[in-house]
Amino acid sequence: MVSSEELKAQVSRVYAEKIEQPSSCCEGACSEPIYPEETQKDLPDGVASFGCGNPVALASLRPGEVVLDLGSGAGLDCFLAAQKVGPKGSVIGVDFTPAMLEKARANQAELGLTNVTFRQGDIEALPLEDASVDAVISNCVVNLAPDKDAVFREAFRVLRSGGRLMVSDIVLERPATEEEMADLALYAGCISGSLPAQEYLGKIRDAGFTNVRYEVESPTKEGQFWFSAAVFAVKD
Ligand SMILES: C[S@@+](CC[C@H](N)C(=O)[O-])C[C@H]1O[C@@H](n2cnc3c(N)ncnc32)[C@H](O)[C@@H]1O
Repeated sequence: MVSSEELKAQVSRVYAEKIEQPSSCCEGACSEPIYPEETQKDLPDGVASFGCGNPVALASLRPGEVVLDLGSGAGLDCFLAAQKVGPKGSVIGVDFTPAMLEKARANQAELGLTNVTFRQGDIEALPLEDASVDAVISNCVVNLAPDKDAVFREAFRVLRSGGRLMVSDIVLERPATEEEMADLALYAGCISGSLPAQEYLGKIRDAGFTNVRYEVESPTKEGQFWFSAAVFAVKD
C-alpha cells in the first residue's frame, strides 16, 4: 500500500509540473469550463484553473468576510473571492506545492491585490488559528488528501461559529478499487483518492458540521464513475 507521505509527494510533484502546462485536475474529464468567460477576462494568463467547479460562485461571500481556500493552486478562486469580500475582507490561500505558491504570489502582484495572502501548508494541519475564518472554500483538492477526516476537522476548527464550508470536489458513484487506488496518476488526477458521495458527506458530519448537502456540478460522463459536486455545510 502506498503511504500517505508518498501520495502527498506525488501530488505535489504532479502539480509543480502542471503549473507549467495548465489543465484541469482530471484532464477535462470532470468538468466543462467552469467559469463564465467574463470572470477570467481581466486576470493574468498565469491564473489557470485546475479545479472541477466554481466554489466562489456558490459561496455567497459578503463584504468584510475572511475566506480560506484549501489548496489554492495558482490563486484563481482566491482572487475571485477577494473581489467579493472587498478591501475590508481578506482571503488566505493554503497550498503545499512551492511552485504553485510562487505562481499564485506572482499573479497576486500582477493584480495588485492586497487583501489576499498565500501560506504554505498542508490542509490536514492548517497553519491558521481556531475560529478565525467565515468561509472555507476549496476546488478539487480534498480528494487529493489521504486523510480527509483531518481536512474536515481542521476546516471545522478554523471556522467561526456560523461559518460555512463550500467545496467543489470529485466524488464517486462506486468506491475506487485497490488497483485504481494504487495508480498514482489516477490518484493525482483527482479520481482514485475520491470517495463515494455519501461517504464524503459522512466525514463532514463526523467533523461536526450540520446542514450537509451536495449538488451535482458536472454530471458523470459515459464510461466514467465520478462526477463533480458542490458540497455545502455549516458550523453551528
Ligand atoms: C487540482 S489542484 C486545484 C488547485 C486550485 N484549487 C484550482 O482550482 O485551480 C490541487 C491543488 O491542491 C494542492 N494540494 C493537494 N493536496 C494538498 C494538501 N494536502 N495540502 C495543501 N495543498 C494540497 C496542490 O498542490 C494543488 O495546487
